[in-house]
Amino acid sequence: MAELKNHGVCGTKRSASDETEAIKFDPKKSMAMVPSLLEDPAAAIANTRHEFGEHGGVNMSIEASATFTVMEPETMRRMFAGELGPDRDFFIYSRHFNPTVLNLSRQMAALEGTAAAYCTSSGMSAICAVLLQLLASGDHVVASRTLYGGTHALLAHFLPRTSNITTSFVDIGDLEEVEKEIVEGKTKVLYFEAVSNPTLAVANIPELCRIGHAKGLTVVVDNTFTPMVLSPARLGADVVVHSISKFISGGADIIAGAVCGPSKLVNSMMDLRQGSLMLLGPTMNAKVAFELSERIPHLSLRMKEHCRRAAEFAKRMKKAGLKVIYPGLPDHPQHQLMKSLVNSEYGFGGMLCLDMGTEEKANKLMNILQNTTQFGFMAVSLGYYETLMSCSGSSTSSEMNREEKELAGISPGLIRMSVGYIGTLEQKWSQFEKAIAKVDGLVKS
Ligand SMILES: Cc1ncc(COP(=O)(O)O)c(C=O)c1O
Repeated sequence: MAELKNHGVCGTKRSASDETEAIKFDPKKSMAMVPSLLEDPAAAIANTRHEFGEHGGVNMSIEASATFTVMEPETMRRMFAGELGPDRDFFIYSRHFNPTVLNLSRQMAALEGTAAAYCTSSGMSAICAVLLQLLASGDHVVASRTLYGGTHALLAHFLPRTSNITTSFVDIGDLEEVEKEIVEGKTKVLYFEAVSNPTLAVANIPELCRIGHAKGLTVVVDNTFTPMVLSPARLGADVVVHSISKFISGGADIIAGAVCGPSKLVNSMMDLRQGSLMLLGPTMNAKVAFELSERIPHLSLRMKEHCRRAAEFAKRMKKAGLKVIYPGLPDHPQHQLMKSLVNSEYGFGGMLCLDMGTEEKANKLMNILQNTTQFGFMAVSLGYYETLMSCSGSSTSSEMNREEKELAGISPGLIRMSVGYIGTLEQKWSQFEKAIAKVDGLVKS
């Protein structure tokens, strides 16, 4: 069906020649040829089909069109009937598939080792859309009680009110409790974060998947804290969701998300009659998709440096007598577990927590770190090149009530820190040390 692609000047594509076809990668084929690459997200990303720009540019062109023309009226009918789709380069309208968003989505699928992915306008829209696709009124979810506050509120308040979908919150580290809460025939989804926000508890992904799958559940894992570091789908998860707004973007300038999973699920979410993404419409803008696709190739380098600095700071903070939570420290309850799950060379993530005991002390320290020694910024979110710090209980987890926070292990003085890589490590450490010296009566472990 070359007809659609050969109309007008803008339809010209270099890939029409046999020669160009020969250098295009079939990711499935190439990964099958080199099985070890399957385990390395950076290698999988490098193997994804690279789109050239319309004049042979090394970057792909941005397909900014909201709508797409057809050369014959019959083609339109066939597209709407589902006979022709983006897999064959047929596009209808950019709330449905858009070529530039699809290109970024291919990179996300490679990153997570899933058959397909599609990107959305935020992490929350990715989470909402996948849950609404997998669940119907009356269904039940078993979810970790330590989740990003927005996700917790969605499951605890919004979905029961709007959709009659209920959730039992469990300690995801207690596998017996997880199994006990699953109601056969009613529970459809097991939901957790690979590394929890904000407490940095590490989920036993393979075991949780085994339990969920034995009961016929779809296992959905939020991997926002650990792209590259952990690959939940390679460890058994069915669906991986991301807030791309964080490490993957890296610039703290874009809100975006993704759903990575089987082709059948992703296609169902784009279905013209039943698809949650198509019908609720949290569409990613093609210009945003292009920007993000330019950042994925250096995600691996950025993650390695986030992880290296977080590990070093955690070690030094502990030595300084502070109460620090970091999965890379041997005293972290899931240190050995995480060690057995991580992709090699990335370490244990770029997030750490400092428990200052009280909110007052936490605020005092953050105030000095930002306004006196310039160690980082008091701001929510994560994955930026500057260090970002927030007191979780009164910010990103404030949607939870006191009891929920207690159960989730979020103490009032917990500072969540996303460790940046700007400046030198020693420069940043000396800024931290100076701030610590100015805070009296610090809680020492
Ligand atoms: C773990 C986690 N998941 C999902 C989200 C929501 O993502 P977004 O802000 O892109 O909607 C966040 C946001 O902080 C998060 O930390």
